[in-house]
Amino acid sequence: MSRDGKVVTMSQESQLTTALAEAAATAGHAPSVHNTQPWRWRVLPDALELRSVADRKLAATDPEGRLLAISCGAALHHARVALAAQGWRAVVERLPDPGDRELLARLTDLSRTDADPDAMHMVQCMQVRHTDRRPVSDEPVPTDAITQISRAVTAEGCRLQILDRDQVLELAATAGHADTVESEDPELRAELAYWTGRAGTGTGLPAEVLPEQLPQTTVPARDFGRPGSLPMGPGHDRAAVYALLHGDEDEPDSWLRAGEALSAGWLTATRLGVSVVPLSAVVEVPGTRQTLRQLLAGLSYPYLVLRMGIADPAHAGPPHTPRLTTEQVVDTSAVRGEQG
Ligand SMILES: Cc1cc2nc3c(=O)[nH]c(=O)nc-3n(C[C@H](O)[C@H](O)[C@H](O)COP(=O)(O)O)c2cc1C
Repeated sequence: MSRDGKVVTMSQESQLTTALAEAAATAGHAPSVHNTQPWRWRVLPDALELRSVADRKLAATDPEGRLLAISCGAALHHARVALAAQGWRAVVERLPDPGDRELLARLTDLSRTDADPDAMHMVQCMQVRHTDRRPVSDEPVPTDAITQISRAVTAEGCRLQILDRDQVLELAATAGHADTVESEDPELRAELAYWTGRAGTGTGLPAEVLPEQLPQTTVPARDFGRPGSLPMGPGHDRAAVYALLHGDEDEPDSWLRAGEALSAGWLTATRLGVSVVPLSAVVEVPGTRQTLRQLLAGLSYPYLVLRMGIADPAHAGPPHTPRLTTEQVVDTSAVRGEQG
């Protein structure tokens, strides 16, 4: 019997728990700050719970948990889409228990529906989406692509402000300042060194995805504090489009929604051949976050800067960033024996 009293057959129950476990596993493809993957899923007989993992929070860089919640929101959106692709409709409860702040979301009241072909396509995009930190090519991003990416963000309750030339220059100065502040802070440097020195663990950033030398970009990219082995190629970023992902509140549930919007926008961009790189240092430093707020006329809260462009097609990009195994992030102990 399900929670609303409907009779559910054993085979439906096992189909449901299999679908929930698969959706949680698929959500492992989601992007996360420094590839921390700060989430853990719990598969229940009639629900899927998303919890944050304190051990994989950036305690110094992200004390409020903004980037952790955005990362978990991206995973939540991935799981929602994966369920829709398998023909399941779910109600999403965000931060359902005020006494348990690590419980970020619960997917519940699951019912059967037709498998959604758009969602199926998005699941394919999850498998190819990745962060390519090389400067983008000179090919302009089609206006229609920007419109579609913005629409995907808006559908998740956030907004994307495309920055004009003057605003990009202001962002460049702000990003430079954030970089200086962070590089002068030994705790932040130590945290970055930890997450860029975790080869073989399935978390963090291996050398292969980090630039060989700092790319020549209008807005300085994050300085990871150590050179990687990814060749930078010939691009100069002139055709890059910079945007601010923003929304009405600066609270944990709006950060979760920002992550869902990031995922929706990034998967749409992937479908359209547009490369996206999030830039979060400007949001991590309180002073530069405030400057971004002024770019939004003080009316909205910035969550993330996004650089969009067409990746250099002539040279190979970075490999996929490794992930934790499904067993490390999905707990199926409550349904063992039920899965089909
Ligand atoms: C909230 C958030 C903040 C991020 N900030 C940055 C950043 O400042 N610079 C950067 O190069 N990548 C940034 N990223 C990209 C992650 O490093 C990347 O998603 C992660 O390493 C996994 O790699 P993948 O996107 O290739 O799967 C960010 C991602 C998220 C979700």
